[in-house]
Amino acid sequence: MLIKRPSDIPASEITPKAVYLRRREFLQAAALAGVGAAIGGAALRAAPVAAGEAIPDLRPSPLSTDAPPTSRDDITSYNNFYELGTEKYDPKANAEQLRTRPWQVVVDGECEAPGTLGIEDILSGFPQEERIYRLRCVEAWAMVVPWVGFPLGDLLARFKPTSQAKYVAFETIYDPEMLPGQRRRVLDWPYREGLRMDEAMHPLTILATGLYGESLPNQNGAPLRLVVPWKYGFKSIKSIVRISFTERQPPTAWSSMQPSEYGFYANVNPEVDHPRWSQKSHRMIGDGLFAKKRPTLKFNGYGDQVAPLYAGMDLARQY
Ligand code: MTE
Repeated sequence: MLIKRPSDIPASEITPKAVYLRRREFLQAAALAGVGAAIGGAALRAAPVAAGEAIPDLRPSPLSTDAPPTSRDDITSYNNFYELGTEKYDPKANAEQLRTRPWQVVVDGECEAPGTLGIEDILSGFPQEERIYRLRCVEAWAMVVPWVGFPLGDLLARFKPTSQAKYVAFETIYDPEMLPGQRRRVLDWPYREGLRMDEAMHPLTILATGLYGESLPNQNGAPLRLVVPWKYGFKSIKSIVRISFTERQPPTAWSSMQPSEYGFYANVNPEVDHPRWSQKSHRMIGDGLFAKKRPTLKFNGYGDQVAPLYAGMDLARQY
């Protein structure tokens, strides 16, 4: 979020790959996945095939905010996704380098039924909702995103976590040949994140598969990313390939890199400043550079739903 991109990325690394290649790979993967088990016997529906395809059978979520969404153009062109470059406009420019088919997610650790899910089974096995959520970045800008997704807890429950499962750890795909950003040690790759079990099971926590009614653009974390609306954006890990139940608090990318600046909890909190800047207000992307900043609400405005998770905790110490 702070480290500048070295200037030595050769131009050849940012040449977009032809879209038809991705589509051909998907068709091969879909043929292979045809024999895969439907999750929990859920009826399979037609799954969207690539970034930017309409997601069928979407229903609106009552948990949405009524704030007007940020434009699709801003949401998909102003991104943090260091695997695709460290400048805000890099992830869109390099998006085609991330291939999202075939794609599998391993679920393991402290659970009775570890396993692997193909992305087609995930897309078709869980009813998809549109949920309009705020995303507040630690750098003091924010957006309102019409996400498409489903509760993380619905997926986790199917793997039967044991009583030892106190946390959930997430990992992004690691493939330095494919992802230009992973060829430099700007972070300790792969990108990792984690939640406490109760945070992971909270109904506001979703796995997102799309936005604006279509499957996720690569730069927003295709094909599957986390969204935790009351936490700073760095918790919302993109392009997930592994989910592990753990007994101990797992290491996470930004808090391992800079523990004094980025904590494990990362709850949006105007009362706790980042060591180098205030967290009291934010710029809403789309308002324009000179617009008045908006006051930031504790837990990003979701306090009624989530404050009880942190009862008795000192959130200045456990930031
Ligand atoms: N996930 C991965 N794998 N790599 C990243 O660099 N950046 C995080 C988060 N997830 C990041 C990531 C940060 S800092 C933010 S603010 C959000 O993604 C941004 O999500 P968006 O680009 O969809 O707005």
